[in-house]
Parts: sequence; structure tokens; C-alpha cells
Amino acid sequence: MNKQNANHLIEWFHNFGRDLPWRNNPTPYHVWLSEIMLQQTRVEAVKAYYTRFLDTLPDIADLAKCDEDVYLKLWQGLGYYSRVRNLHKGAVKVMDEYGGVIPDNQEDLLKIPGIGQYTSKAILSIAYQKPYVAVDGNLLRVFARLTCYDKDIKTEEAKNACNDFFYPFLGLRPGDFNQALMDLGELVCLPNGQPKCERCPFNNCCKAYKKDKMTSYPIITKKQKKKTIEKTVFVIHYQNQYLIDKRADTGLLASLYEFTNIDQKLDEDEAKAWLIQNGFAIQKIENLHECKHVFTHLIWQMHGYDVELKQLPNKNDLLWVSKEDLENKYSIPSAFSYFLKYLLF
Ligand code: ADE
Repeated sequence: MNKQNANHLIEWFHNFGRDLPWRNNPTPYHVWLSEIMLQQTRVEAVKAYYTRFLDTLPDIADLAKCDEDVYLKLWQGLGYYSRVRNLHKGAVKVMDEYGGVIPDNQEDLLKIPGIGQYTSKAILSIAYQKPYVAVDGNLLRVFARLTCYDKDIKTEEAKNACNDFFYPFLGLRPGDFNQALMDLGELVCLPNGQPKCERCPFNNCCKAYKKDKMTSYPIITKKQKKKTIEKTVFVIHYQNQYLIDKRADTGLLASLYEFTNIDQKLDEDEAKAWLIQNGFAIQKIENLHECKHVFTHLIWQMHGYDVELKQLPNKNDLLWVSKEDLENKYSIPSAFSYFLKYLLF
């Protein structure tokens, strides 16, 4: 790869790069928010969330002042909620310690919750046009094919090699260079199936293309198998009131709301016994579909029951809510979206 190839890439980006909402006005806050949303989430899914989030919280001071339930609700469905919690903590820190200005240097950025190596470099290059390579999965794949990189790309060593390879070509607008590579990875140098090499601005300098070995790269060693947890989920209601619980304030899906559930598969008789034991007077119980939710390291295999009660249980610490509040107020993670949709639609 040489300077001319890098120029081809930028030209390609100007002609074929994607028109994405966070590219219209790439302020540090906009870039930070978009990069956090884009972690583990597809661009198409992020677009609407990004716009809605900024409609409600247009600047960092609004985010810093925002209530937990409000920002969690804005995030509902995106998953990995620690991202938005950190974003909020980070906004408070930027207001308190940096006068509301997101730092323009890596040392300070790395002190902000949720900002790691990649995100700091994305902010510095895209919002501040500083010379950093934002090495993400797309850049690694493009790099691995350009150079026929023969080792696993999921290592620090590979990230460093990728960084060193692209760094000399960052040019005057490093943010454009990085985003051009991201788009190349998403639109041309595709991860699964055949990449579209005939359209690639790098097809005259790509080693994998020259050897017709595009699908042999990148090399990724196998991931560990995920653990499956069997669960029983109860959609419990009385008249027009639905029972939800708030999850613990640490751990998986912390502080979000959920339908009552236990980490055990119960058949209908066992489910009835569990409900009675826990003070619920059953009017009617109905089996719901099974469903599965896949987290990064974990799978929930869920068995659901719709439970209509005869009367409200004799406990005051339960949270009974209307359908309207379930839809608009409480943040129920996507893991329960099958049950939520079952109720609402
Ligand atoms: N993925 C992560 N950051 C991105 C960006 N700025 N543009 C497109 N895709 C991305």
C-alpha cells in the first residue's frame, strides 16, 4: 500500500461512503455517543436511536442531568446497558472536571468511564482530526486481507500491527481515513461470503486478492462455547395491572425492569406450585412460547407462562404497572421483548 492507494480510498469514500446521521455534524459529543451506540450494534439499528437520544438530550449538560430511568428508556432495545450508564457517568465527569468540554487528548479521554483505546481514538480522529488509527473489526479485516496477516486478528499484537500499517496514511483528515476504512469493511471487504473486490479501491495492492485468498482472511480462532441458563418467566397480571421487578443494581442488565422469573425450567405443575408458594392466587395459567436470548457470554433459554390472578397478593413491595407505562416508562431489556410484545400487541 502507498500514498496513492490511500488517496484512492478517500476518493472512494467521497463517492460511496455512507450518509450517516453522526457524520453530519461530528462534534465530540455526537461522535462519542455514536461510537458507544455502535459498539456491538449494527449501523442500521443505531440510526433511529441516535437521533431520538439527541432529540431528548441534545448536549452533554442535558445528559449529565438526566434521570437513570429516562436514559435507560432511550437505550431500551440496544442492549449492553452499561454503555449508557457509563455515558451518563462520563457526562457528569466532563461537566464537573472539564468544564463541559470533552478532552482532546488520549490521557484524559481514557479516564472517562466507558472510553477505551478504540473509542478515544475514534473521538480524537473524527471529532478533533488528530492522527490516530481507530482499529475496529472492519479495519482489522481490511488489514488482514491487504497484508495476508497470518495470525489471529483478535489479539493486541494484531491491533498494533494494523495500527502501524495504516498510521502513515492517515493524512490531513484522519477521521475520514478511519471512517473510509470502516465503510470499506462494511460495504466491500465483507466479513462473510464473498467480498466485492472488483469495486475495491485497494484491489491493485491487496495481497489476498492477488493470491485469490480473500476468504482465507482474516484468521480468527474459535470462541468459547456460551453457557445456557434455563429460565421460567411469569407474565403476571391482575385486571389491567402487570407485575414487573427491578433488577439488582449491579451485574447483568443492572437496574432494568423485568417480568418475574427464576433460573430454572418449570413445567406447568411446578410453575403453579412456585406461584402458590410465593403468594399468588392463580385464576388462570397459560403456557407461552419458548424463546431464547443470546448475550455475549451467555444464553437464556426461557419458558413463559401468562398468569392471571384472582386477587392482588398481600404484599406492598410489588410494582404493578399499566400497559402504557410498560411501553413508555419502564425499560425492559430485549431479552424479554417476546413477552413484552406478547402483552402489548
Ligand atoms: N462503526 C463504528 N464507528 C463507526 C462510524 N463512525 N461510522 C460507521 N461505522 C462505524
